[in-house]
Amino acid sequence: MYKYKCLNPIAKIGLNNFTENFEATDNVDDADGILVRSAVMHDMEFSDNLLCIARAGAGVNNIPLEKCAEKGIVVFNTPGANANGVKEMVIAAMLLASRDIIGGVEWVKANAGDPEIAKVTEKAKKKFAGNEIMGKKLGIIGLGAIGVRVANAAKLLGMDVYGYDPYLSVNAAWNMSSDVHHVTNVDDIYSKCDIITIHVPLLESTKGMIGTDAIAKMKKGVILLNLARDILCDEAAVLSGINSGKIRKYVTDFPNTTTAGHDNCIVIPHLGASTEESEDNCAIKAVMEMMEYLENGNISNS
Ligand code: MLT
Repeated sequence: MYKYKCLNPIAKIGLNNFTENFEATDNVDDADGILVRSAVMHDMEFSDNLLCIARAGAGVNNIPLEKCAEKGIVVFNTPGANANGVKEMVIAAMLLASRDIIGGVEWVKANAGDPEIAKVTEKAKKKFAGNEIMGKKLGIIGLGAIGVRVANAAKLLGMDVYGYDPYLSVNAAWNMSSDVHHVTNVDDIYSKCDIITIHVPLLESTKGMIGTDAIAKMKKGVILLNLARDILCDEAAVLSGINSGKIRKYVTDFPNTTTAGHDNCIVIPHLGASTEESEDNCAIKAVMEMMEYLENGNISNS
């Protein structure tokens, strides 16, 4: 009989519906399998009986993969289980960056007590006028579970979509709208697109991939979105791109002191996958993967 433990509260659904041996606790010392969301595990000591870790989410950069490999601990993740939540956030981010909805709402709050508020609204209409996304060129770097969903949703909104992915899977290609332009050189995304969104994992090769060189190749007034992983963008380079007028708006799901508070940045506190639906999907998938491995010896990572 195995003990499954959950390191931080993950889902509203009762995971103990799946196994009576499931416990949500901070003390995972004697667990056979640990379920974790984004808690950083690099400094944790693992007991000798730990057999697997399931990350309820896509990114595994909070898991000490080398240590797990040395100890033979199997690591699962749930790519795709929260992709719809992130996709919807990316679409919202594009719209927020194109239309100054946040500025307008703040303006209304600031003027809430003004009896003339209805009259001065005329001024606000000019001040907060924006652009439509229909017909704009959207560049997607990384066509995995999230990138493909963003591509398909953007096509439905009338955007002209370009995608780059050197590792495009047959499954992703199959699920992607056929009128997405698949480019084989990322520079085409930089030079052609009005809005660029990144959906790649954090690897040595992708760290800081959006830096001074990439930004120099982008169109003036580009909108840049990073709802994937924090250090994919070199924030100092992004800031100088904003200050030079090259980048019109930067939307990130990773607060840090460089961009938080800047007028041309929309900084979200990592809410991309924070929907009840995504959290439940990830948690259920992660528990099923662990149980399938521990109880039946099968490895399924989907
Ligand atoms: C993920 O890796 O799936 C995302 O970071 C979502 C999250 O866990 O908050």
